Amino acid sequence: SDSYSLLILPGDGIGPEVMAEVVKVIDWFSANRGMSFDVRHGLVGGSSYDAHGVPLTDDTMALAQSVDAVLLGAVGGPKYDTLDFSLKPERGLLRLRKEMDLYANLRPAQCFDALADFSSLKRDVVAGLDILIVRELTSGVYFGEPRGIHADDNNPDNEGGRVGINTQRYTSGEIRRVARSAFELARKRSNRVCSMEKANVMESGILWREEVQWVRDNEYPDVELSHMYADNGAMQLVRNPRQFDVIVTDNLFGDLLSDAAAMLTGSLGMLPSASLGAPMANGRPKAMYEPVHGSAPDIAGQGKANPIACILSFAMALRYSFDEGQAASDLERAVERVLADGVRTADLMGPEGGTPVSTSQMGDRIVAALSQG
Ligand code: NAD
Ligand code: IPM
Ligand code: MN
Repeated sequence: SDSYSLLILPGDGIGPEVMAEVVKVIDWFSANRGMSFDVRHGLVGGSSYDAHGVPLTDDTMALAQSVDAVLLGAVGGPKYDTLDFSLKPERGLLRLRKEMDLYANLRPAQCFDALADFSSLKRDVVAGLDILIVRELTSGVYFGEPRGIHADDNNPDNEGGRVGINTQRYTSGEIRRVARSAFELARKRSNRVCSMEKANVMESGILWREEVQWVRDNEYPDVELSHMYADNGAMQLVRNPRQFDVIVTDNLFGDLLSDAAAMLTGSLGMLPSASLGAPMANGRPKAMYEPVHGSAPDIAGQGKANPIACILSFAMALRYSFDEGQAASDLERAVERVLADGVRTADLMGPEGGTPVSTSQMGDRIVAALSQG
């Protein structure tokens, strides 16, 4: 079969710990499924800053543009909190997303039955949950201009004398393309999209609502579309999350709502993501895969991190970048089986307690489950 090119960027904190388990999974698929991966490794975030003085080098950026898929662990940490804004680890990640134009960030939240008692919500509310948040990833308040921290010269009443500015800005084209991603994905699921914004207070929210509706009416009349204010959406996600199928929302709301959705699945350590852009010459989208969680400085270096979010992110790479849907499902099933066997990292210690396994043991168990077929 073809060779798949991959750039692995483990990053900081628990990033390298969870990525080491993904490498075991990649090795398993190479050895047992005849897949061939051309794997490159690089630095991003604080680890890149330490080595090169910047959170992402131009060389690594160019490499990311050239591969079939990028796998990223996590970036950031207290060590880098006081760096100049442009040098912060997070800027490296944001540059990758922006320059690769990865506008559609897919964040599925699925509650595995074995974990239904581990959510902070009741089993009845979360059991069987399977929703997909599609977060716009390259625009909105994350990137809008003007931005910055300035002296507030003409305002003597401003104690402290400074102003911090960010701009929420969306073009119709940016909204339409991510809406299309959501509708396409909905067609392969339960055919329902709920769009979230705050059209009651923001003009960009009004445009968002109108453009999503336009795409639905003109291109996806078969898909059911509803609209919800994002604050109500946050409440509904906790009240009755199973009412949703696909949620499409902007960059910042999507960031918040997906962290909230994480707890519906038992742990932030369970949530994978795919960030997809426009199709490349080979027809596959530009793509980066990363867990939703961060570098977890509070547990880094202790072998406690749950590698499942990162492993399931690789499953998404198999599905969306390599067209290996069967392999993706096999990997997801292996994770499900290991959880059903009661294997738990520390973040998944529920009401009944027990002895957690380490990051590395969890990876080994998932690979063993793959071998059992
Ligand atoms: P975080 O996601 O790193 O951690 C939040 C909480 O969840 C912590 O208690 C952590 O221990 C726990 N947690 C996260 N992932 C886990 C896992 N795999 N297994 C077990 N427990 C896990 O968020 P934070 O603490 O707000 O941020 C820490 C740093 O990470 C910051 O610098 C932030 O900017 C960065 N960050 C990076 C990304 C990314 O690289 N994509 C995402 C979010 C945050
Ligand atoms: C995420 C993170 C990032 C974001 C940060 C680290 C830039 O929170 O991927 O969810 O805000 O998008
Ligand atoms: Mn986030």
